Amino acid sequence: AVDLPLKGKSVLVTAGGTKERIDPVRFISNDSSGKMGHAVAEAAWESGAKVTLITASSLDVSENITVARVESAEEMYDAVSSRFDSSDALVMAAAVSDYSPETASPHKMKKQDQLTITFKKNPDILKEMGNRKHSSQCLVGFAAETDNIEVYANKKLKEKKADLIVANDVGKKDRGFNVDKNEVIFFSQAREPQIIQLKEKTEIAKDIIDWISEFLN
Ligand code: C5P
Repeated sequence: AVDLPLKGKSVLVTAGGTKERIDPVRFISNDSSGKMGHAVAEAAWESGAKVTLITASSLDVSENITVARVESAEEMYDAVSSRFDSSDALVMAAAVSDYSPETASPHKMKKQDQLTITFKKNPDILKEMGNRKHSSQCLVGFAAETDNIEVYANKKLKEKKADLIVANDVGKKDRGFNVDKNEVIFFSQAREPQIIQLKEKTEIAKDIIDWISEFLN
C-alpha cells in the first residue's frame, strides 16, 4: 500500500549511548539520549515494517516494537550481528562508545590518589555490517560532528559502506544530543547532500524512513 511502504520489511534500529563498565557502580558513556533512534523505530513501524530496536537508552518503547535492551558496545554488537542478516535495513542511530576499559573491576574500586584506566577500542558495528551487507540491504549511519561535517560524513559513507549518512552538528545547544529537535544533512552516494532543516526528531525520523523506503522499493 502507498501508506505502508515498508510492509513486509524488517528494520533493525539501534539507539542510545552505550555504557562501558569500570566497576559495578561506575561506567563511561556519552550524551546520547536515544530519542533519535527511538523515533526512527516508531516511524519504521508506522510505515508498516517489522521493527527491532536495540537500545542502550532507558526510554519507553511502544508495544509494536520488539526491544532488546543492551548496555555496552560489545552487547550491542552481538545483538545487531545476530539479527542483521535477516534485516532489510539497519539504522545505527546509537552513539557507540569508541573505547571501553580493558578490564572491568568485579568489585567497587577504592579511592586512590590517582587512577589510570587503559581503554581498548570497541568493534565498529556499522563498519562490520557494511562489509557483510548484500546490495539489497539498506545501511544508515549517523555522524555527530562539531566541524568539517561534509568531509567527515563523506568519509564515513565510503569507509563504512553505508547507503545513507545522517550528519548533525553537535556543537550547537538547541539541536542534536539530548534535545527534541535536530537539523541534519543527508549524505548518500548517488545524490547531492540534502539539508533537513531544524525540526522535531519525530519528523526527521519520518524523512529517514522515507529515504529507506525509496531505497528498498
Ligand atoms: O565513526 P563514527 O563513530 O563517527 O561513526 C558514527 C556511526 O558509526 C554511527 O552510525 C554509529 O552508530 C556507528 N558506530 C558503530 N560502532 C562504533 C562506533 C560508531 O556502529 N564502535
